[in-house]
Amino acid sequence: MKQEQYRNVKPVFDTHKPQVFIETYGCQMNVNDSEVVLSILQDAGYSLCNEMTNADIILINTCSIRDNAEQRVLGRLEVFRQEKKKKKRLVIGVLGCMAERMKDSLFETNTVDIVAGPDAYRDLPKLIAAVASDGRQINTILSHEETYADISPVRMDSNGVSAYISIMRGCNNVCSYCVVPYTRGAERSRDPQSIIREAKELFSNGYKEVNLLGQNVDSYLWVDRDNPTKTVNFAQLLELVALISPQLRVRFSTSHPKDMGNGVLYTMAMYSNICNHIHLPVQSGSTVMLDRMNRKYTREGYLERIAKIREILPDCAITTDVIAGFCGETQEDHDQTISLFKEVRFDGAFMFMYSERPNTKAARQFKDDVSVEVKTARLTEIIDLQNEISLERNRESIGKIYEVLIEGTSKRSADEMVGRNQQNKMCVFAAEGHHAGEYVMVEVTSCSSATLHAKIVEN
Ligand code: 5AD
Ligand code: SF4
Repeated sequence: MKQEQYRNVKPVFDTHKPQVFIETYGCQMNVNDSEVVLSILQDAGYSLCNEMTNADIILINTCSIRDNAEQRVLGRLEVFRQEKKKKKRLVIGVLGCMAERMKDSLFETNTVDIVAGPDAYRDLPKLIAAVASDGRQINTILSHEETYADISPVRMDSNGVSAYISIMRGCNNVCSYCVVPYTRGAERSRDPQSIIREAKELFSNGYKEVNLLGQNVDSYLWVDRDNPTKTVNFAQLLELVALISPQLRVRFSTSHPKDMGNGVLYTMAMYSNICNHIHLPVQSGSTVMLDRMNRKYTREGYLERIAKIREILPDCAITTDVIAGFCGETQEDHDQTISLFKEVRFDGAFMFMYSERPNTKAARQFKDDVSVEVKTARLTEIIDLQNEISLERNRESIGKIYEVLIEGTSKRSADEMVGRNQQNKMCVFAAEGHHAGEYVMVEVTSCSSATLHAKIVEN
């Protein structure tokens, strides 16, 4: 592995080179994967282009987590098909989770030339080159080792302040509803030295925040192959990144309630640059549902983790994911979710309706028996409740002072800046000559359920 090669790579826009257009759907991990893909393609002589109509190659990085995510991508493929009618030599590639899940059936759309799964990106230059001579190309082989550790992602839509770093790939949990373990393969942790190098490189290029990404960061464990007694766990990795500079903020996601130990919480408490925010998906407030989801914790176990976070990190924001209408969910199970939301009072939540995914454990073993009407009603109830709680929580911030890292100018007004506090809440405030990448102290003056309005109180 070429480790010394670490470098800051910027997007190349060179119209003399073959033009590649990349569109990304899904999670932050996919955004980071697209940055890895661009890095590989730039090294192979391709240039990024921002207009689909100028592209020689269109790549779409896809998500399979819910059916509607896949439908959106299939809709885009139809648009690309029209584009291909105008430009016969246009090459179209599907990357990521849908590529892995649907494999060569994607060729049936009569649009796609390349299908490349999440572990096949190093192969892309070869696959693209082969299309002209040999026609359709596919690589959906999953790896037990690939972490793209030596590749410097090219930050595409970056604000130059905050960047994602993938610290692991895949997932070993097999939550029964989830397609991810099948599309992204087995869990593997990336060499900590390559993570530190990437974070340092970002910091020396002006970035002030890194967001460490993994499906389940708490199970991060790197074992030195030459000396298996030498290991690094997630709490240790967090500390190593936090030590790079007090000026570099560290965030991470996603945590798993069954694996999030107190060690991580104490490390967060020790370093003021590790942001006070934990994303801890609960999925359901009912122990019966959690068991059927194969989450490996109970309602009580989850609440105990919340209590521990609040004991060790009193200012820590907690957000969650929840699924409404999983197989066999009764009104009583749903009421348990509602009561858990009232008890925890999350700062925010991503709320979803259960969507059966082919070949998952749930699809094979349980009936998707909650009607769409009931799923919709339950989801709406959760969303309405959470919106109220988010607003109440934000109101509690009024009059408080927070450190904010400025990310850029507000979309609404050039005189206003936006940035997040440690709790990951978006703050809007008068610029007063400040710039992206600066830390400022602000006092919250008013709010909506999504945003804090504030004024700068000191530098
Ligand atoms: N249906 C609905 N939501 C799902 N999620 C994962 N799989 C499904 C599914 N089949 C949600 C979970 C997870 C988030 C990323 O997506 O809440 O935490
Ligand atoms: Fe899916 Fe569960 Fe893994 Fe998250 S932890 S990616 S929900 S299997």
